[in-house]
Amino acid sequence: MITLENVHKIYNPKKANEFEALKGVSLTIEDGEMVAIIGKSGAGKSTLLHILACIDSYESGEYKIDDTLVKNLSEKQYAQIRNEKIGMVMQDFALVDDFTCLENVLLPLDFAKHKKSNRKELALAALKSVSMDSMAKKPVNKLSGGQKQRVAIARAIVNQPSMVLADEPTGALDSKTAEEIMHVFKELNHQGKTVVIVTHDMGVAKQCDRLIEISDGKILETAS
Ligand SMILES: Nc1ncnc2c1ncn2[C@@H]1O[C@H](COP(=O)(O)OP(=O)(O)O)[C@@H](O)[C@H]1O
Ligand SMILES: [Mg+2]
Repeated sequence: MITLENVHKIYNPKKANEFEALKGVSLTIEDGEMVAIIGKSGAGKSTLLHILACIDSYESGEYKIDDTLVKNLSEKQYAQIRNEKIGMVMQDFALVDDFTCLENVLLPLDFAKHKKSNRKELALAALKSVSMDSMAKKPVNKLSGGQKQRVAIARAIVNQPSMVLADEPTGALDSKTAEEIMHVFKELNHQGKTVVIVTHDMGVAKQCDRLIEISDGKILETAS
């Protein structure tokens, strides 16, 4: 379970261009939920998702994952939480374009923890779970948008995180491909993963169990 309690995020604090992007956000997401975070451009969706993903910090309030307070941790502790708990699907895939699918999915594996043969096995299993195992050796720059998104999802889940976060995962896709990608997220959710999707597409949002709407850095409502 994750909880945010009165979280404030300020970009460039105490500078002339200081900007408060989150103005006291509180929310709870239970294990196994599939949640959409919706809101207009600039509302603070990506900011919120980056905090949830432990790739950005916040100025005040509390963020807890499974009762661990995610605040003032060392780089090593943040990396450990990200590794064990979180799979992040970045906006616009953020893949290494001239690497193969397999090489991209190998990237987040802990080289110290897994033997080489195991790493390949884990990466191929992740690719298989998004139906991309047959393209493992293809460079990413030869893939369609939907295929790239599948590889990005495989990379996010290769460490078997309990939570998958995605920033506008269908934003760059046509509607049919978007539907296929939503199917992949629903499948992950059925397997028990918590899924959090940022989107401004109501068609995508409605496929989630719950909507969290954010406007101007504040949660508007948490309606089912
Ligand atoms: N690194 C940054 N520095 C300063 N302001 C930022 C930064 N990132 C985002 N912002 C501002 O914070 C607000 C929320 O941004 P963001 O979370 O990206 O919104 P959304 O994802 O909902 O479009 C916007 O006004 C944006 O300009
Ligand atoms: Mg955004």
